[in-house]
Amino acid sequence: MAGCKSSMMRRLWRKYLQIVALIVLTILSLVTYMNRRKLEIIYTNTFRGRPNSYCEGENCHSLARYFQSPNSDVDKSCNKTCKRLWQPGSSAWFDSRFNNSISPVWSRRNEELSKDVKKWWLSIRNQGENISDVLDKVFKLIPEKQPLNHRQDECCIRCAVVGNSGNLRNSKYGKLIDSHHRVIRVNYAPTEGYEDDVGSKETHRLAYPVSFTNVKKGAHFVMVPFGINDINWLVSALTDGKITWTYAPVYRYIDVDKSKVLLLNPALMYYAKQNWIGDKENWPSTGFMMLLFSFHICDEVNVFGFGASSYGAWDHYWEPDAGPWNFIYQLVSPHKHSFEENLLERLSEEGKIKIYRGVR
Ligand code: C5P
Repeated sequence: MAGCKSSMMRRLWRKYLQIVALIVLTILSLVTYMNRRKLEIIYTNTFRGRPNSYCEGENCHSLARYFQSPNSDVDKSCNKTCKRLWQPGSSAWFDSRFNNSISPVWSRRNEELSKDVKKWWLSIRNQGENISDVLDKVFKLIPEKQPLNHRQDECCIRCAVVGNSGNLRNSKYGKLIDSHHRVIRVNYAPTEGYEDDVGSKETHRLAYPVSFTNVKKGAHFVMVPFGINDINWLVSALTDGKITWTYAPVYRYIDVDKSKVLLLNPALMYYAKQNWIGDKENWPSTGFMMLLFSFHICDEVNVFGFGASSYGAWDHYWEPDAGPWNFIYQLVSPHKHSFEENLLERLSEEGKIKIYRGVR
């Protein structure tokens, strides 16, 4: 009797394990399916060698040439009716948060981080303290001066800030996005094959090592460094390709114009957290940092591709609508989308940005 009972228990237990395994497998397959672009990139990064078009020689603009034409990505036609979002006076709410004096780019001039910024920045991934050594190495490879042109009173720099939301699917925003002076994109979002909806122009792309994808020729790669290791990766990816892993596999080599690579200033990241996000998140999303970055290099900002799916998840325009399975995105996202979305809504209500909402 006891033997019969225990064999029944064993069978039940096996059944239970099978069901659990099935559920885990289903979730894993869905996560894999939804992240297949990221995984594809990780896969090619892991197994690919040095690209032959590695940026050296004729294909790269020399630094001198770059500095001679600092306004090359700005249309010279100026707009008299420019709504300069950074100008104080129209929104007390915005003015109490916005800090125009923070440089969006980390360079020799602002190399020294304040005590608070340094403490916070190093704590993100809990890394050692030798910042100046790694900066010495990286500034031998990328511009050590702040190369972004300052705003000019007589001109209007109009920017499209493009997030990765599924609301861009069938939006037909492509031409509108491309009509901006500067088009800022983020992470591994593709444009090829999606031109009708997202355009093809790109002047800046913000990404961190794991989310890097090729940047359009002539565009700036703005590296978002979540600590010293990320900068070590940049040095490695521009030289000997020693680093293949940060917290996940990364590109060994990157095919970028070194004179156009910029480091996002950790002070801007800290300010994004302190002045805008507060305790709501440990650090702001790359999309939100891209928006703040734009506030420092643009006069007018139009926002595309921001907004969660109806199931409350940060889905992507290059992936088919996952319907109720969207919840998987929430499982893998460290960010509170609703909080950032409310911030965007407020910025729009205050007349600081215009949101193009796409198709839902
Ligand atoms: O998913 P990923 O982090 O690459 O998206 C980049 C940015 O686009 C996010 O950080 C977020 O700010 C924005 N996004 C969004 N709504 C989505 C997907 C992304 O607002 N559905």
